[in-house]
Amino acid sequence: MKILITGATSGIGKQLALDYAAAGHTVIACGRNTDALAELEQVHPQHIAGQRLDVSDAASTKQALAVYQDVDVVILSAGVCEYLDVEQFEAAMFERVFEVNVFGMMRCVEALLPNLQAGSQLVFVGSTARLLPFTKAQAYGGSKAAIQYIARSLQVDLAKRGIHVQTVSPGFVKTPMTDANTFEMPMQVTVEFASQRIRKGIANKTTDITFPTLFGWVLKFLSRLPQSWQVALSKRLS
Ligand SMILES: NC(=O)c1ccc[n+]([C@@H]2O[C@H](COP(=O)([O-])OP(=O)(O)OC[C@H]3O[C@@H](n4cnc5c(N)ncnc54)[C@H](OP(=O)(O)O)[C@@H]3O)[C@@H](O)[C@H]2O)c1
Repeated sequence: MKILITGATSGIGKQLALDYAAAGHTVIACGRNTDALAELEQVHPQHIAGQRLDVSDAASTKQALAVYQDVDVVILSAGVCEYLDVEQFEAAMFERVFEVNVFGMMRCVEALLPNLQAGSQLVFVGSTARLLPFTKAQAYGGSKAAIQYIARSLQVDLAKRGIHVQTVSPGFVKTPMTDANTFEMPMQVTVEFASQRIRKGIANKTTDITFPTLFGWVLKFLSRLPQSWQVALSKRLS
């Protein structure tokens, strides 16, 4: 298979690139960090090709990605996380987070979609953070809730073209993104575990790949409670 991965220079995307390449697949690894891209190419010279990509730049994203033909699986993992201090409310922070997590993903879809064939898979990496109103997570959780809705709606419209749209909803995964967190992260998993669950979900065409399973079940159950209960619970957690 030919697999294009954004956010392949770090964390979940990097592990996916390494694991797919080790299994003999062709990987187009995308990101801004050219040193990290070169390192990936060195590990698997036959299987990984680096592609410099800044998804916040619309023109260069289109130019970089529109050339790729015959991609079987697109995994949009590039993302950023910032937490809001409500006393220093900053609208620009929402712009920064949505720029990468939502508009960046849409720019990738715009560039790649014309060349995607029937049978291909388009995978959006979201987050279980979308499920509850977590403290300080207004921008990050909001961006992931937006991408989940967009992906679900694309599942409807791209089915006509035979393109299978999937979402990934990870709990806490140990990566540079979560290494910056100062709070407790229950049921945190490794990137190897995350990669294994995502690859299995892609192989099985699972609509929403949620892991770890228990964490996902608990959050999905809580997200069905009345909104006032969810807010009360999150206040206690904060
Ligand atoms: N870690 C978790 O616990 C967790 C949980 C739920 C969901 N997620 C989601 O999983 C995805 C990967 O997260 P991670 O934990 O692996 O984070 P990470 O280690 O910080 O990696 C983030 C990746 O996004 C790329 N990126 C950021 N801004 C970019 C831009 N403007 N253009 C292109 N690429 C950009 C980075 O590459 P460059 O710097 O090279 O551009 C990097 O490869 C994200 O969408 C995140 O929201 C993570």
